[in-house]
Formats: sequence, structure tokens, C-alpha cells
Amino acid sequence: MAATTVGLLLDRIIANFSTEKASLWTSIMLGLMVLILLACLISWQGTCTGGLPEPPFSKGWPLIGETIHFAFLENTADFVRRRVERHGGLFRTNLFLKNQVMVIKPDLLKIMLTDPQRLLESNLPSFAQMLLGKDAVTALQGKAHSTMYALFMRSMSTRFHENWIAGFDEVIKRTVDSWKGRTMNCYGEGSKLFANTAFVYMFGTFNSDNELAQKLTQWNREIGRGLMSLGLYIPGTGYIQGLKARKNIDQFLEERVEVLLKQREGGLKRQFPSSLEFLLDSYRAEAGRELNPNDRNLIIGVRNFFIPIFDQIEVAGILFAWIMKYLSDFPDILQKVKAEQDEIAISKNEPDYKLTLEDLEKMKYSYQFLQETHRKASLIGSLLRTVGKDFEYEGFTIRKGTVLHAALRYFHYNPDYFPNPNKFDPSRFEDPANVKPHTFTPFGFGNRGCLGKTVIAKQCLIIIHYVTTRLRWTALDPAAPEKCNPIAHIKGGYPVQMFEN
Ligand code: HEM
Repeated sequence: MAATTVGLLLDRIIANFSTEKASLWTSIMLGLMVLILLACLISWQGTCTGGLPEPPFSKGWPLIGETIHFAFLENTADFVRRRVERHGGLFRTNLFLKNQVMVIKPDLLKIMLTDPQRLLESNLPSFAQMLLGKDAVTALQGKAHSTMYALFMRSMSTRFHENWIAGFDEVIKRTVDSWKGRTMNCYGEGSKLFANTAFVYMFGTFNSDNELAQKLTQWNREIGRGLMSLGLYIPGTGYIQGLKARKNIDQFLEERVEVLLKQREGGLKRQFPSSLEFLLDSYRAEAGRELNPNDRNLIIGVRNFFIPIFDQIEVAGILFAWIMKYLSDFPDILQKVKAEQDEIAISKNEPDYKLTLEDLEKMKYSYQFLQETHRKASLIGSLLRTVGKDFEYEGFTIRKGTVLHAALRYFHYNPDYFPNPNKFDPSRFEDPANVKPHTFTPFGFGNRGCLGKTVIAKQCLIIIHYVTTRLRWTALDPAAPEKCNPIAHIKGGYPVQMFEN
């Protein structure tokens, strides 16, 4: 569009010359236009006027750049590797109509995720914000974000974990026992299980309504589909379905909060100290008065707080499918994990035991297995931030408006950080000192780092314990293809036939 306007103006000026009406003004105009044109060309080439150049540009197709290659044709780690060979360690490309700088060096990743100068904003397109909750912590910026993030962090504090472990143990044991003899889809059953464990730390209760767990996972799935859509407001599209699902989850959360507030007013104590209890105590301290269960602002505030937890249930279900796949693919590793878990089971000395924090701390090899699962699967392959002010890095300018694109999967598959990266090898995490800082980042870090990572790890260890000690299984589609964009998953969700051990 800008190019057309420049062309039209030039036509006019040339016409003026041909009719020999060129005046001083026309010459000045022509001079200005040439300057503007040059500036446009220079910026298009990626060189900063009077400053450092922008990083080399990996061109693709007109307008859409390399979007198709990134999203559909290449694995994200291979996409980056090929361009690093061509352009070196820092390059730009056009993805999803945005000028993006790929972040593949640990020091730049650290700048990006800790953002010491507060120059960056999280990059969620507005259609994704609508799906993920426009007032949820993931969409907030600046002070509003840091306030809610700090509150979230305190609500997930480790002092609550011991009680939550007792709750997770009960839910997981019951669920794993119900899988005996069943043919099941690991991703689907995993999502339902994580919806039920989320009840423990969110609300301090057990959910025994299987239909509700089913509905919640279905709504989360629809939101996930909406995120993969083009975000167009057209009836029948994944985006519209996703928006409906968002509304359902919001309504469910509001109702749940209202009921729990009323119960609390009536003096009911929760089974576990939960995030909700913590949150309500914080609000009460801030307000300096008892809370009113009909206070809409409070209910909506609490709802916004819980939204990201619900959004992660799907991701956790996908993680469970990867756990089952890697346990199935590597029988020698399964044997080692099982030996460790059997030893813990035997040490408990009673049939209906409960796992404790100390038991989880003994699961050293299983934890290495979990870390390696995160590395190899790299569920979240990319993180994005938008640059709010030009800054310099290694002799280049990174311009305001550019999207910084952290290629997490590329880090996890870089042989300089993880030798023989295609090999599934939990022992690479045996000594944490062997892992270079800021190269293993399945949960991000810094001022938007994952606040659920320790809670999710504890749940996964408990699941691994009961699955390996109580069940055997056969994979029904062991060679199912894997897809790594936008969230790495196994096509078909990894179906298995479960047997009692
Ligand atoms: C397998 C499961 C999970 C994975 C792979 C995962 C991954 C991530 C990643 C990569 C980030 C960084 C986002 C960024 O820097 O832009 C993040 C942030 C976050 N995660 Fe998780 N997460 C998981 C589960 C959870 C759970 C269960 C919870 C809640 C209990 C949770 C709560 C959060 C929150 C609150 C943030 C911060 C968002 C922000 O401030 O923008 N996550 N997660």
C-alpha cells in the first residue's frame, strides 16, 4: 500500500517535469520523495539509519515470509538449524506477518525472559487473549501482571504441597485402579485426571463427578482448537467454538467460587488448604472486611486467577501421553523406573499406603526420566515477546515492534548442550551441573516463568508410581506420528490396553 502511494506521487512529479512546469517546489518534493524511498528501501533491507544493522533476514515468500515452512513443513528445531547454517547465530524472519528474531543463544534468552529493563511485552494476539482470558495473568502486562503473578506465586507456595500430595495420591490411585483392564486413550484419560487433581489445589475438594471432568476437558480442547484456528469471527469455525467453551469455563468457575464462598460463610472448612482459601484470605486482608459472596468483582477476580490452571490441563494430558510413550518405547528404562518405584512400594509395608513428600524425593531416576521426557518432547517449542524499545545485541539493532521468538525446542536438540540429542537418555540429568544454564527450559523462567511446574512434577511422579507398580500395558499404535507445532503431541493421543499387574 505504501509502495503504491509513493508510485502515484512519482508519476505526478514526472508528469510535472514533462509539461515543463517544474518549479523549485517540485524539485524539493522530488528530493524528499527520493529520500523517503531510500529510507523505505534501507529499512526493508534491515539496516538501521545511522545505527547498527538489524540481524540478517531469512526471506521467504512475499507477504507470508516463512510461515508455511515453520508451521507445516519443518520441525521447529530443523527450521532453525537450517537458517543458522545460512545466516549465523542471530537472524530474522517473517512468521505470521511479523518480523521475528529467533532467540537461540542462552544469554539472549536470559535477557528476553528476565527482561531486566522492562522493554518487552508478552505476545498474545488479541484473538488468543479472548480464548485464554483477556484478564488472566497470561494476558496482563506491566504492573497488573506483576501483581497477579506475585499473588499466584504465593498461592502455589510449597508450604501447601504436603497436603496437596495427600489429595493427589487419593485421586491418582483411584483413577489408575479404574484403568485396569481398559483400552484407553492416554491423552484423553490424562486430561480428565489432571482436571480432577486441579480441584485439589484450586478448591481444596475432590471431584467425583466424572461427567464434569469430561466436560471440562472437552471445553479445554475446544479452546486449544480455537488457538490453532485463524481467529476469524465466522460462525462454525474453531474460533467461535473456542469462544463458547471459554464462556462455559468462565461460568463454571464463577458458579464454583460463589458456592464455595457461601459454604465458607457458613463455617465450612476445606479438606485441604487450597489456592482459593489463600486468595480469599489475601482479598479479605486487602479489603479490611469480611468478603461478600455476592460481590461480582471478587468472583470475577478469582475466576480470572484460575483460568490459566484450566488452560494447562490439556497440556498436562499431552504430557501424560508422552510419558506413556517413552516408558513403552524403552523397556530397559521402564525397568529401571519400575525397580525404583517397587522399592518405594515395598518400603511402605502396607497395601493401602499413601505417598508422601519424602517418597517423592526418593524418586531420583524417575525424576530424571521426567526431565528427559520434557526435553525430548519439548511440548512448548516457542515463547514470544514483543520488543517495546530498540535495543542493541552483538552488533545488531533489534527494533521496536519486532517479535523475539525463543526457539526452546532448538535449545533442547542442540548437540552443544545435549550431546546425541535424538537419544532418549534420562542419565543426562543425573548431575544438574551438566546442564548449561538457560538451555533446558520446558517451563520458561524469569518474570513469566511457569508457576505450576513443581506441582505438575509431583503429580507426574505419583502417576508414574501407580502406573508402573499396579499396571502393565500394550501400546496400540506405537508408531503413531508426532507433530511438534504449536504444542508437541502424539497424533491419536497414544491409545493403550491396560492390564492389572
Ligand atoms: C505440563 C504442564 C505445563 C507446561 C509444559 C507449562 C509450561 C509453561 C511455560 C513454558 C510457561 C512460560 C510462558 C512464557 O514465558 O510466556 C508457563 C507459564 C505459566 N504457567 Fe505453566 N506449564 C504447565 C503447567 C502449569 C500448571 C499446572 C499451572 C498452574 C497450576 C501453570 C501455571 C502457569 C502460570 C501462572 C504461568 C505464568 C504466565 C504469565 O505470567 O504469563 N502451568 N508455563
